Amino acid sequence: MDNSAAARRLDVGGMVRVARERVVARLREAEVVAAALSAGRNVLLEGPPGTGKTTLLRSLADGAGVPLVLVEGNAELTPARLVGHHDASRVLTEDYRAENFVPGPLTRAMTDGALLYVEEFNRVPEETMNVLLGVLSEREMHVPRYGRVTARPTFRLVAAMNPFDAVGTARVTPALYDRSCRVAMGYQDEDAELAVVAAATGGPVDLVAQAVRTVRITRDHPELRIGASVRGAIDTVLIARELATVRGDAASPADPVDDTAGLDAALAALTGKVTLADGTARPVEDVVADIWHRAGLELQSAGEEPGKA
Ligand SMILES: Nc1ncnc2c1ncn2[C@@H]1O[C@H](COP(=O)(O)OP(=O)(O)O)[C@@H](O)[C@H]1O
Ligand SMILES: [Mg+2]
Repeated sequence: MDNSAAARRLDVGGMVRVARERVVARLREAEVVAAALSAGRNVLLEGPPGTGKTTLLRSLADGAGVPLVLVEGNAELTPARLVGHHDASRVLTEDYRAENFVPGPLTRAMTDGALLYVEEFNRVPEETMNVLLGVLSEREMHVPRYGRVTARPTFRLVAAMNPFDAVGTARVTPALYDRSCRVAMGYQDEDAELAVVAAATGGPVDLVAQAVRTVRITRDHPELRIGASVRGAIDTVLIARELATVRGDAASPADPVDDTAGLDAALAALTGKVTLADGTARPVEDVVADIWHRAGLELQSAGEEPGKA
């Protein structure tokens, strides 16, 4: 197989074009990840959940015209799950044969020249990480009783990691960092998050604004250790709209602070997504309710200042 650098290039222009269409802002990240992948490098995306890592990767794969094989990293991802296994009942009657091998995501990604996207990479067991590291250096692997699997030229590994995850982040070896390029994906600015939530929900504007302001406050709140991502804002808006419908209220009440549908939606959307800081004595519902009200007041007073919308 022609594994020269030229044969391994991906369509960087196509990748960036599709990312521009589908991803709000993030142009720099899209360009850098596309360039690294096109140059034949593997990529480590580092950022908290809900920062658009999967959305970006999916659009880059589509733009390059290569499949995306998505694997969730967790403690159950054994080498056999990642590589594949022989069908046990067929082995009983036919013995081990290449034909009764059921390829796992790694084997499929190598064979199809796909982007293999492993989310929560830090949660992958050590033996499984080592299999991946071997493939990154050799671009092939030997599977017992199946044979040699060679990566097509467009095969790449993209690993995603939440740097704030308590599980296993320290275990990710220097060998992986050495074999990949790292791109940080932090939270986006408020305008970008407003655009993301508006696109995902269709509005209304003031509800979107309060939901976005609320999740942004959770990330920087002394009573919370972990805040909510833009996903929490999307959920808040979608639930509030349904609630308003079922209760016969307007979806956008004149007074955001007395908006019970919005508050109930925020509680449902956010109390499970945030984590209390050590030493927070009151229930998470009270903290989220306070933040929701504070967000409403901030937006109200900003709207009343002359010259500000
Ligand atoms: N920059 C962005 N552009 C478009 N949608 C985004 C962006 N960031 C987040 N989203 C939306 O937010 C949600 C979470 O994004 P996702 O890509 O799944 O995040 P991650 O993989 O980092 O957890 C999805 O609904 C996604 O469409
Ligand atoms: Mg994801």
